[in-house]
Amino acid sequence: MSLLIIAGSSRQASINRRLQERLAEVAELNGEQCYVYPPAELDAPLYQGDYEEKNGVPSNIQKLATAISEASKIVVVTPEYNASIPPLLKNAIDWSSRLDTNPWMGKTVLLAGASPGQFGAVRAMTDLRGVLANLGAWVAPAVASIAKTDAEKIAELDAKFLGNFLKQGD
Ligand code: FNR
Repeated sequence: MSLLIIAGSSRQASINRRLQERLAEVAELNGEQCYVYPPAELDAPLYQGDYEEKNGVPSNIQKLATAISEASKIVVVTPEYNASIPPLLKNAIDWSSRLDTNPWMGKTVLLAGASPGQFGAVRAMTDLRGVLANLGAWVAPAVASIAKTDAEKIAELDAKFLGNFLKQGD
């Protein structure tokens, strides 16, 4: 069982990918085994009912669901798009909810997010909390909201602060 860290941006220079990596670094320093999920592997066709009827749930989403099921804890790192969840992440979650077994049920989920602006993805995380709680996850009360940031600042984020964030739900 390990800590699964998902990030909702597949952009090469993504600050949320940097946050995903920094969280893994801190977790590993604290003796945790991590699975840094490749963001590009969240990429699935936009959910559409006729497509689903014809093709079923995409195989990469089935793999994601297996990773979620096998994890002892999950961190979801999200960018904020127009005050909400970016489509790469929301679409992957929507697809994952179409499987016979809902992988999120009963899982411990921690939310993190970064933005260059003042919000630190907090509004995306508020929406994400509702979506994941609706799927039966236990979503930890404290989020890691990193505002006014860039890749360099994220690489230097305080290990104690992130370590305490990661302890939630232990
Ligand atoms: C943004 N961005 C943004 N930022 C924010 O703090 N609140 C917001 O509502 C939005 N809205 C928004 C919409 C769209 C369509 C884009 C493309 C961007 C800016 C966003 O935080 C910034 O581009 C981040 O760098 C995106 O995350 P990654 O890809 O760097 O992880």
